[in-house]
Amino acid sequence: MSLRDYLAAQQQLIERELERLVPPETAPPATIHRAMRYSLFAGGKRIRPVLCLEAARTISDAPQGIETAACSLEFVHTYSLIHDDLPALDDDDYRRGKLTCHKVFGEAMAILTGDALLTLGFQTLSHMNSVGDDRKTRIITELAVAAGTVGGMIGGQVADLEGEGKTPDAQLLESIHRAKTGALLRASVRMGAIYAGADDRQLSAISSYGEHIGLAFQIVDDMLDVEQSTEALGKTAGKDAQQQKITFPAVYGLVESRRMAETERLSAHQALEMFGTRAGRLRELADLIVQRTS
Ligand code: IPE
Ligand code: IPE
Ligand code: MG
Ligand code: MG
Ligand code: MG
Repeated sequence: MSLRDYLAAQQQLIERELERLVPPETAPPATIHRAMRYSLFAGGKRIRPVLCLEAARTISDAPQGIETAACSLEFVHTYSLIHDDLPALDDDDYRRGKLTCHKVFGEAMAILTGDALLTLGFQTLSHMNSVGDDRKTRIITELAVAAGTVGGMIGGQVADLEGEGKTPDAQLLESIHRAKTGALLRASVRMGAIYAGADDRQLSAISSYGEHIGLAFQIVDDMLDVEQSTEALGKTAGKDAQQQKITFPAVYGLVESRRMAETERLSAHQALEMFGTRAGRLRELADLIVQRTS
C-alpha cells in the first residue's frame, strides 16, 4: 500500500474512533460539545495517533483497541492548540484552515473547550478495557508527564512565552522544543509500544526514535512558519518573527535548520535498526515529518 493510502486509512480509523468517543453535539450542555467537535474535526493531520498505532504494530501484530489510546493523544493535542491560540498566548485567528475556537465560541468557552478535551483524554484512557491495569496505568502516566510542567508540554509553553523578545539562545531553544512539542510526540510512540507489550530494549529504541522525530517536528514547524503561506498552513504564517519567538530559523537560519532536521530524521531511522522491516512505516513517518509542507 502506498504511504498516501496507508495514511488515509489510518486517519479514517482515528476519525471514526474520535467520533465514537466525543459526546454528540446535542448532548447538554450543547455549546461545549459543539466547540469540542468544531476544533477536533477541523482537519488535523492526526500525526500523534498515527504514530501511536504504528509504534504498537512495530511491537506486536494487530494490537486490539489501540485506536482508543491513540485518540487520547489527539484530545490533549487539540486542547493544547486551542489554548496556544488564545489572545493571552499566541493570539491566532486561524487554525486548521478555520477560525480559531475563541473566535467562534468566545474566549471563555474556548478555555473550557481546552479543559474539556484534556479531561476527555484521561477519561478515555481510564475507561479502556482492552489492556491490563498495569499497562493502562503506565500509559496514563506517560501522557500526564508529557503534558505536564517538568520537561512536558506546559513547561515548554511557559518557556516559549517567557522567551518572547529574549536573545535567541541555542540551549534554551532546544529545551523549549523538546518540551513543548517533543514530549507529546515521544509519548505517542511510547504509549503505543507500552500498549503492545514492548520490553525494555524495545521501549528504549522507540523512545529514542520519538525524541528525534519530536525535535525534527518543531524544527520543521518553525521553518514552515517562515517559508509557507497562511493558506498552505491553515494558520497565520510569519507569526513567530512577529512575536519574536525563539525558533530554529531565528537561531540558526533556514539552511542550517533544514540540515539539523535532516540529521534528526537520520538518527530516528538509526534508532529503529533492531526492528528491521517491521518499522518500515515508522521510517516513512519520520521522512514525512521532515519533508511535509504543512
Ligand atoms: C501544530 O501541530 C502544533 C505543534 C506542536 C507544532 P500539528 O502540525 O500536528 O497540527 P495539526 O494537528 O495537524 O493541526
Ligand atoms: C505550539 O507551538 C506547541 C503547542 C504545545 C501547541 P507553536 O505555537 O509553534 O504551534 P503553532 O505554530 O501555533 O501551531
Ligand atoms: Mg505557541
Ligand atoms: Mg502558536
Ligand atoms: Mg509554530
